[in-house]
Amino acid sequence: MRREFNKAETSASAFYRLLTATVVPRPIAWVCSRSAAGVDNLAPHSFYTVASVNPPIIQFTSVGEKDTLRNIRATGEFTVNLAPEELFEQVNATGTAFTESISEFDAAGLTREPSLTVRAPRVGESPVALECRVHRILPMGDCTLVFGEVVHVAVSEEVLDGVHPRIDLLRPLSRLGLDEWGTMGQIRRIKRIRVDDWPGHFRP
Ligand SMILES: Cc1cc2nc3c(=O)[nH]c(=O)nc-3n(C[C@H](O)[C@H](O)[C@H](O)COP(=O)(O)O)c2cc1C
Repeated sequence: MRREFNKAETSASAFYRLLTATVVPRPIAWVCSRSAAGVDNLAPHSFYTVASVNPPIIQFTSVGEKDTLRNIRATGEFTVNLAPEELFEQVNATGTAFTESISEFDAAGLTREPSLTVRAPRVGESPVALECRVHRILPMGDCTLVFGEVVHVAVSEEVLDGVHPRIDLLRPLSRLGLDEWGTMGQIRRIKRIRVDDWPGHFRP
């Protein structure tokens, strides 16, 4: 038996809670932007993904109009920082709706690290920073999709195995439903199966 949720018969907020509880786990883009007045903003966004490989573009969604979106519209630049498990409280603190004159860096006790290619800083305590320039801003329903071309990537030497970031050292947080968050579970490895290795009747 399944419970069926018809959109027409379900409230918008209940439908939203269903989506955010079932599209899981979501990675967290810890987005740093600088306002036109020079205030460094930092806010987590879990509607976040890789949108294009070449050019390399990431995408996050602003639900409504927020300081992050206003700053990015004004400057065309931002950084996306990885949200690691050891910064759980700080990441959550930067999701507080401070007035635009307050920097979440100061409120949460985080360090600004200068970026190499954009004016918005990196989060010094985070192991990965993606420096981005706006590719496109796309309104969608009551949301706005921000597409950023990744022009530079900075990864802490401490999490690298050669040139490869080690997932067990990155320890990214994820977002689940309600106020639930996830941490990395067991890491499993498996090779993709080549179609030629399947038994005969499944081959094209
Ligand atoms: C883990 C987490 C994920 C979030 N994901 C989103 C998101 O995807 N989109 C969004 O608009 N707000 C999201 N929020 C809420 C924003 O972070 C929050 O509204 C914040 O105050 C926005 O800051 P700003 O006004 O400085 O841009 C999230 C909050 C948390 C704690």
